[in-house]
Amino acid sequence: MSDILVHTEAGVCTLTFNRPERKNSITAAMYATLADALEAAAADPAVRVAVFQGSETVFSAGNDIGDFLNNKPGGEDAPVFRFMRAQAMFPKPLLAAVCGPAVGIGTTLLFHCDLVYAGDNAAFSMPFVNLGLCAENGSSLLAPRLFGYQRAAEALLLGEPFMAEAALEVGLVNRVVPPSEANALAQAQARKLAAKPLSALIETKRLMKQGSQAEVMARIREEGESFRRMLAEPAAREAFTAFMEKRRPDFSTL
Ligand code: COA
Repeated sequence: MSDILVHTEAGVCTLTFNRPERKNSITAAMYATLADALEAAAADPAVRVAVFQGSETVFSAGNDIGDFLNNKPGGEDAPVFRFMRAQAMFPKPLLAAVCGPAVGIGTTLLFHCDLVYAGDNAAFSMPFVNLGLCAENGSSLLAPRLFGYQRAAEALLLGEPFMAEAALEVGLVNRVVPPSEANALAQAQARKLAAKPLSALIETKRLMKQGSQAEVMARIREEGESFRRMLAEPAAREAFTAFMEKRRPDFSTL
């Protein structure tokens, strides 16, 4: 079975993270599948809405750390950057249903979704600093804008998880429901949107995003340059090695 399931029905293209044994962490191959699926969904008139979902217990543990070490992202043609561009520029409604951990890009992709529904077990985190890295996917711009500066600083500098109710309070999610209902709620909302005139949805989304899209893309590029440089530096090497060796990282000399 594929690590990313792509299923289109009644105008809704659903992208399901399906790698439970690795907590739905995302490899370069998975980013490529996601980017291809989003690009195809954007171009296909039969697709009117796209939805990201995981399972009732996990959304995504973010980048697959082992794969990341073996396949360091290159330039803007790298699968991860193709994926970031595809979700940030997706012209049609983009939804997510999030249960359990949503780590790193598992949280930052939500800044690019139009509607987000969370199970009450959702735990969002952006632990980039703890990995010796910097914010990515536009989160250094979009988290302060959405949360307010100090709450964004708490999320991005401390990198500790925040739960569904806190995500609701800062406006990252629309509604919190029991985990067993989150995917169904996102699907129901997606079907409602799919029944509306597509041209009106696309134009309204374009107008809402008009003031920020170029700035967001520029920030994704700038973050990407720093992120790639920092991946090769000692702090990230220590963090990733510690993760693989199942020990706490030692940043005392870094
Ligand atoms: N990359 C690679 N492997 C990962 C992973 C990741 N991001 N996240 C989890 N896994 C692996 C674990 O190493 C473990 O492998 P093992 O069975 O060989 O020991 C397996 O998936 C299950 O994970 P585990 O940590 O035991 O599950 P958990 O329910 O206790 O915790 C998380 C879930 C998501 C909170 C935890 O796995 C985690 O913090 N992962 C790292 C997240 C991260 O830092 N992502 C990078 C962001 S840039």
